[in-house]
Amino acid sequence: MSIHSHIFTLFLLLLALLLSASIPITGHEFSIKEATVHDFRMAFQQNKLTSRKLVRFYLGEIHKLNPILRGVIEVNPDALLQADKADKEKKAKSLRSLEGLHGIPILLKDNIATKDKMNTTAGSFALLKSVVPRDAGVVRKLRKAGAIILGKASLSEWTGLRFVFPYGWCARTGQGRNPYVLSATPCGSSSGSAISVAANLAAVSLGTETMGSILCPSHFNSVVGIKPTVGLTSRAGVVPISPRQDTVGPICRTVSDAVEVLDVIVGFDKRDKATRTASKYIPRGGYKQFLNANGLKGKRLGIVRNPPYMFENVSVQPQVFEHHFHTLRQGGAVLVDHLKIANIDVFFGSTGVEALEAELKISLNAYLKELVASPVRTLADVIAFNNKFSHLEKVKEYGQDLFLQAQATKGINKKTLLKLARFSRNGFEKLMKKHKLDAMVAPTADIIHVLAIGGFPGIDVPAGYDGKGVPFGICFGGLKGSEPKLIEIAYSFEQATKIRKPPSFKP
Ligand SMILES: *[C@@H]1O[C@H](CO)[C@@H](O)[C@H](O)[C@H]1NC(C)=O
Ligand SMILES: *[C@@H]1O[C@H](CO)[C@@H](O)[C@H](O)[C@H]1NC(C)=O
Repeated sequence: MSIHSHIFTLFLLLLALLLSASIPITGHEFSIKEATVHDFRMAFQQNKLTSRKLVRFYLGEIHKLNPILRGVIEVNPDALLQADKADKEKKAKSLRSLEGLHGIPILLKDNIATKDKMNTTAGSFALLKSVVPRDAGVVRKLRKAGAIILGKASLSEWTGLRFVFPYGWCARTGQGRNPYVLSATPCGSSSGSAISVAANLAAVSLGTETMGSILCPSHFNSVVGIKPTVGLTSRAGVVPISPRQDTVGPICRTVSDAVEVLDVIVGFDKRDKATRTASKYIPRGGYKQFLNANGLKGKRLGIVRNPPYMFENVSVQPQVFEHHFHTLRQGGAVLVDHLKIANIDVFFGSTGVEALEAELKISLNAYLKELVASPVRTLADVIAFNNKFSHLEKVKEYGQDLFLQAQATKGINKKTLLKLARFSRNGFEKLMKKHKLDAMVAPTADIIHVLAIGGFPGIDVPAGYDGKGVPFGICFGGLKGSEPKLIEIAYSFEQATKIRKPPSFKP
């Protein structure tokens, strides 16, 4: 795109925003923007809203905003059909229409397989025209709960395992943009999911995380991301990196929406062994019971204050976090400050990356082999595809260094995995137990690696905006299966602070 057409599109976007802002919303009309799943459900019941209207609204917003934001790769040609079906079920007052995500449009990160008219490509042209054998495990659960699959969200191509920077770029959509400050990073790899819910292009979304891919984009786009304990949600049918670290989780505007989605996607799947052991963590009656605004009372929270290692110069004011710590104390939490996670340097060293590269080669080859049809069948094929279509895949600009390193690995080094597990046990886990902590709290960057390597859960909640208007979040992380506590803490913090505001699309 030339600079001129880019500026022109930006002009159209701003015009559209001004026009849409000037339409008065009357007291009786239901306003879709910023509404929660609970609001939608109420509006359905009161006949103020249909799923068709909801889907049409989002399709309109995607049409209007996606040329700039590039948060969406594809929309589902059957989304309106699914909406009509949901509306019929509502009219017939079927039991199903009163629960789950019935009639709610959801966007899926483009590495989550759907067996429908949409492509599943992890953002790469190499997987276009591939045919998946079946819906991903989480997609089956979403459909069963009545959700409308609205489309596929963009991402850092191949979930960030082809190259590290730029975050939020994939060949099929180009550079995803942060809706708060268009020139700021949206982070990655679940960039499109976070961008889209932040800008009201969808009701809710799914992302995936191996190391920071849910928590970091949530942080930068002022939304709520839940990275579940590994195995709590099925990874079957998700373009993989590491069976040790991969997890699928919601990215939404509010904690309650994220919990609505979490309730639907957790649970056993015969195609993902890890779901068998992790199922024991799922509380009877689901996670909604932990949306408790007094959830901070008596909670013991540890504070780690390491310098951020991973992010591009985040200019978070320390005073802001002092204020948040004060809020947590006021809610009744006990804060244990100045904790140091032992061996934290190891988490940022090459050991973790080496392990991921070896696992990527094995897992990706297995995923590609299982496809019904595909232009690429191995990681080596993907590398060759990128070289052949280097212009399309911008190989000269962004390279494929991580792929090349992964291809050079020769199997998983068991010793490396044992070492990582030991560091995790003797570091984070030991510290949590020693101080009897319910959660660790940190500016997001500080504990992402620790949570990733241990398969631990984390929730990121909006915590503020820097001097330029770029959002940042606060992260609560805990031991395996501690989602109920993390939800109580995150929800109480969100309700006490209400920091999220809709994006303003600053250049
Ligand atoms: C899937 O990709 C093909 C191109 O190979 C395209 O024609 C089709 O429209 C895509 N599907 C959707 C839903 O965009
Ligand atoms: C971060 O800050 C350093 C030092 O101020 C600078 O050299 C670097 O280019 C910055 N990085 C980004 C991504 O802005």
